[in-house]
Amino acid sequence: MKHQDIIEKLTLEEKCHLLSGRDFWQTQSVKRLGVENVTLSDGPHGIRKQEGAGDQLGLNGSVPATCYPTAATMANSWDPKLGEELGRHLGAEAASQDVCVLLGPGMNIKRSPFCGRNFEYFSEDPYLAGKMAAGYIRGIQENGVAACPKHFAANNIELRRMASNSVVDERTLREIYLTGFEIAVKEGHPKSIMSSYNQVNGVYANENAHLLQEILRDEWGFDGFVVSDWGANNDFVEGVRAGSHLEMPTTGGDGPNQLMQAVKEGRITEKEVDKRVDELLDVMLSVRKAVDPLKGKPFDKEAHHRFAQKCSEESIVLLKNEENILPLQKGAKVAVIGEFAQKARYQGAGSSVVNCTKLDNTMDVIRQFDLSVAGFAPAYPRHGDTDQTMIAAAVELAKKADYVLMYIGLDEIAESEGLDRSTLALPACQTDALKAVSQANPNVIVVLSAGSAVEMPWLNQCKALVHGYLCGQAGAGAVLKVLTGQVNPSGKLSESYPVKYEDCSTAPYFPARERSVEYREGLYVGYRYYETANIPVAFPFGFGLSYTTFAYSDLAVTGLAATFTLTNTGSVDGAEVAQLYVRARHPSVYRPAKELKGFQKVFLKAGESKQVSIPLDDKAFRYWNSKTNRFEIDGGEYEIMIGASVQDIRLSAPLQVQGTAAPACEDANQLPSYFSGNIKAVSDKEFEALLGHKIPDGHWSGTIQMNDAIAQLYYAKSLKARLVWKVLDHMLKKSIAKGQPDLNVTFIYNMPIRAIGKMAGGMMSQKMCEGILDIVNGHAIGFFKGLGKIIGGFFRQQKIAKKAKALV
Ligand code: BGC
Repeated sequence: MKHQDIIEKLTLEEKCHLLSGRDFWQTQSVKRLGVENVTLSDGPHGIRKQEGAGDQLGLNGSVPATCYPTAATMANSWDPKLGEELGRHLGAEAASQDVCVLLGPGMNIKRSPFCGRNFEYFSEDPYLAGKMAAGYIRGIQENGVAACPKHFAANNIELRRMASNSVVDERTLREIYLTGFEIAVKEGHPKSIMSSYNQVNGVYANENAHLLQEILRDEWGFDGFVVSDWGANNDFVEGVRAGSHLEMPTTGGDGPNQLMQAVKEGRITEKEVDKRVDELLDVMLSVRKAVDPLKGKPFDKEAHHRFAQKCSEESIVLLKNEENILPLQKGAKVAVIGEFAQKARYQGAGSSVVNCTKLDNTMDVIRQFDLSVAGFAPAYPRHGDTDQTMIAAAVELAKKADYVLMYIGLDEIAESEGLDRSTLALPACQTDALKAVSQANPNVIVVLSAGSAVEMPWLNQCKALVHGYLCGQAGAGAVLKVLTGQVNPSGKLSESYPVKYEDCSTAPYFPARERSVEYREGLYVGYRYYETANIPVAFPFGFGLSYTTFAYSDLAVTGLAATFTLTNTGSVDGAEVAQLYVRARHPSVYRPAKELKGFQKVFLKAGESKQVSIPLDDKAFRYWNSKTNRFEIDGGEYEIMIGASVQDIRLSAPLQVQGTAAPACEDANQLPSYFSGNIKAVSDKEFEALLGHKIPDGHWSGTIQMNDAIAQLYYAKSLKARLVWKVLDHMLKKSIAKGQPDLNVTFIYNMPIRAIGKMAGGMMSQKMCEGILDIVNGHAIGFFKGLGKIIGGFFRQQKIAKKAKALV
């Protein structure tokens, strides 16, 4: 053990307490041995350090910090180096605020465009997500702060995320949901990682030895610590045994007490506890040492703001540019329409909310550009119904200008942690306004703000479409730079845009059915499905226009790399994202028609040519073999494709690859839907063949269990419990109708009974939760038994929490 000297001097009690938080954001300390506490803070695109009494979802203010574009936006830059630079900025701000562990990047796969948290994640593709995340991690950790990629793993839905079970076959898990984390761990070397709330194949992620020990540590060589997502710890003892190091937030000594008891009873050895303490101390001591000299050191707010703008400039995607309406000429007369131009939509809701140092709104910064502004009209309410009076004013304004800059997008309720979306449509009040405005002035340029895919039946009502995603605090200026040609757009979509939601492979299987989230679509996520099943999309993965054009030529492929020439054939400088896709000609397993295996962003002056070489790395040909239980390679012919998007393949060449001669592991007769790509109606029998076992019964029973969601109180036997459900349900519906989701209510509604204990900051113990269960399930005896447990538990918990405090 690396820290034997300290561990020898720690009492069992101290060791157990070190593995649980001291409060909402800090770890425990043992000052007499020089173990100081460290602070962990969100989040992926800016620091959210809550001072004083922190609340979990950021409703209390946090210390001002730069709000950078969210991960969904940054992924469109396809530039891990830019991600690294952003990480460096995040790391500097974290250290300055004495934050030692930065809870990000978020890197779950966008399995469905309905996931409310997609704006915080990079991509539907694991290779792109992994490369971007590795960049962030290297940058964040450069001066010693620990990055914490999250949420590990298969957490691709918000609905009842603490009470759901992701049922996924090992091959899909490995190839789609873990490959990004694998790249992040192997290439970014994060010092910590966050386990997710959900179960993965029946075992909570935070106590899943397959994930935390076998894969993370043994296979990938991870040597940092695992922290539970806030309240994700289910069974403290099992978590420690499986490879989890830190329960957050504090449970007021309840978790540590259970661990001590387990050691005393011989259910876990002190040696196992020592190992976890040693691994945790290793990071805590080093981050503390690195951050100490940097804390309080101010960062240059203006420079960071400018860098946030640069990030947006590199990430904005030009989706349409009919008649080359963009860039606008100098002095062009524009009407600015849309409420978002007045008050930017620039980040999503939930634990990632940053209290930004300043915020650029379009109407504040547009005067710095050489445009003649005819006026501004909001045209639609932020939330609510179509307003004909507002539309009429916008139409009048549109008539007075040569061009309309129409700012639209998703509103706050649509993109939030804890809530999934129920439609891909933009609010009708906005699309009605767009329609009316486009009838008054055909030169409409839409500026879209949304952190994930939307349907665009309105696309023919605009001549240009600039997608800014969620651009962070300095996005307004970046968009204007693109509109006026000061910046040549170079972003490309990191996710597919379906024509309509029903086209998605996951549409029949999303959201969760009661307890189970069944990943029946297997590997067919995003473009992997559209390309295999030939489903037309509105905009394909990897798509984005530029003010210049690029030519691809002279492809040469070896087993090591694909090399070709890229030429800027237009008249302005610009950058192109060249993408490498692979297809196996005669695979022994089912495989999507195209898979991204490499990419490079290349800047070229007008007329310039460069030779580009994209390596074919260890991920290029591999597939997970469920018989040998490891990655294998099919021998034979592959097609190497180089494209400007997944659909726009410019060059291709065959390549013979030496295989690993593994036994066949899939039978096309048993998996007909998977082999054909037609996976919208996978039968139970076929899904079981893919899983290799029976589908677990995910139905809720009438009796409420510790891990059942509070939403299930609807079924409770006790009238009072049903009343609690009614009140919560009413509050939730009311807040959704208002357009401002009450995240705390949403959170409570969807969390399991167990989590009341985990999230109450030490006020409630597990015993007290058991008491609640007795009551909600109960008849008279249950009620009194439950009450006894709650009251007795309360006094016991007070004592434990007092003792825990004294240890600090
Ligand atoms: C989120 C995490 C976040 C944590 C702390 C959880 O609800 O899922 O992403 O880091 O809260 O705020």
